[in-house]
Amino acid sequence: MNQDTSTTSALASVLATGQQPSRLQRQGRYTPESMRHPGKMLPAIAATVIKAFTRAGDLVIDPLCGIGTTLVEAIHLGRDAAGVEYEPDFVHLTLGNLLHAHNQGATGTPQLACGDARNIATIYQALHGKAALVLTSPPYGSHTHGHIRSGRDNGGGKIVKRNHRYSTDRGNLAHQPLPGLMDGFGRILAASATLLQPGGVIAVTIRPIRVKGELIDLPGQVIDTAHQHGLVLVGRHVALLAGLRDGGLVNRASFFQMLETRRARERGIPACATAHEDLLLFLPAAMLGGRS
Ligand SMILES: C[S@@+](CC[C@H](N)C(=O)[O-])C[C@H]1O[C@@H](n2cnc3c(N)ncnc32)[C@H](O)[C@@H]1O
Repeated sequence: MNQDTSTTSALASVLATGQQPSRLQRQGRYTPESMRHPGKMLPAIAATVIKAFTRAGDLVIDPLCGIGTTLVEAIHLGRDAAGVEYEPDFVHLTLGNLLHAHNQGATGTPQLACGDARNIATIYQALHGKAALVLTSPPYGSHTHGHIRSGRDNGGGKIVKRNHRYSTDRGNLAHQPLPGLMDGFGRILAASATLLQPGGVIAVTIRPIRVKGELIDLPGQVIDTAHQHGLVLVGRHVALLAGLRDGGLVNRASFFQMLETRRARERGIPACATAHEDLLLFLPAAMLGGRS
C-alpha cells in the first residue's frame, strides 16, 4: 500500500484508543498468562494503526514483539505478521496468543523468531522489501510499574509489586542505560526499515518517563535516534490511554502511577499521571526522495 506524508496525516491527531481499560481490551482475546508481561501495547492502538496503514494480505512486523499484541491484532485483521522477541518466555506467551487468535478465526499468517532484533534484517532476510508496516515500542528501563498484589490478596500483608521487571538478561535492551537503549533501538529501526516495501511506514508508540523525579523526553529521543538512522518523522499523534467521556478524560493510570504522581507532587514536582502515548510515524529518507 503506497503511503506518503499526505496519507499518513489521514489518521486523526488524537486517537480514542483508551475507551476500554487495557484488561477489558485483552479479555478473551489474549491468554490470561500473557497478562504478566510488564510493558504491553494497548490492543486498540495496534488495531487502529494497522487499519490505517495496511490492507488485508499486507505484512506487519514488530521487531520487539513482547507477547505479540501487534501480531495478534494484525492476523485478526487478515494481515500477515512477523515478530522478534529476545526473551524465550515472552516468545512462548506470544505463541499461545497466536494460537488463541487462530482458534478464534484470525486468518493472517504469523511468523515468530526468538532473537536479538538488532539482527532482524538477517533473521527475516526473506522479507526484505515486503512489509507495509513496522509497528513497535521499545522497553523503557528494567523496572516497570508491573502489577500489584494488595493486602487483601495476600492475607493482609503489605502491597507488593509483581511482574514489574523484564528478565535479568543483560542482552535485553531494557537493561541498557538510556544511551545504550537508544543506540540499540536506532539500529533496530534502521534494520527494520530494510524490510519495508516502497511506501511502507514505521510506527513507534512511546511516552515520557520519570527517573528520580526528572521527566525524560523519550519521544524526543526516539525522534532524534530515528533521524540519525535515516528516518524522517512524518506524523505525531496522541494515542489515548485514558478514556474519553462527556468531554473529559477517564483516568486509567495504575495504582503505582498514581502513587508516584502523588509522591512527586508532595515533593513539589508538578507531575501528572500519563494519559497518552505518542504515536510517531516515520518514513525512510531514501523513500521520500527529494520530498523530505
Ligand atoms: C515494550 S515491550 C513490547 C511489548 C509489545 N508491544 C506487546 O504488546 O506485547 C519491548 C519488548 O522488547 C523486548 N526486547 C528487549 N530487547 C530486545 C532485543 N534486543 N531484541 C528483541 N526483543 C527485545 C523485551 O523483552 C520486551 O518484551
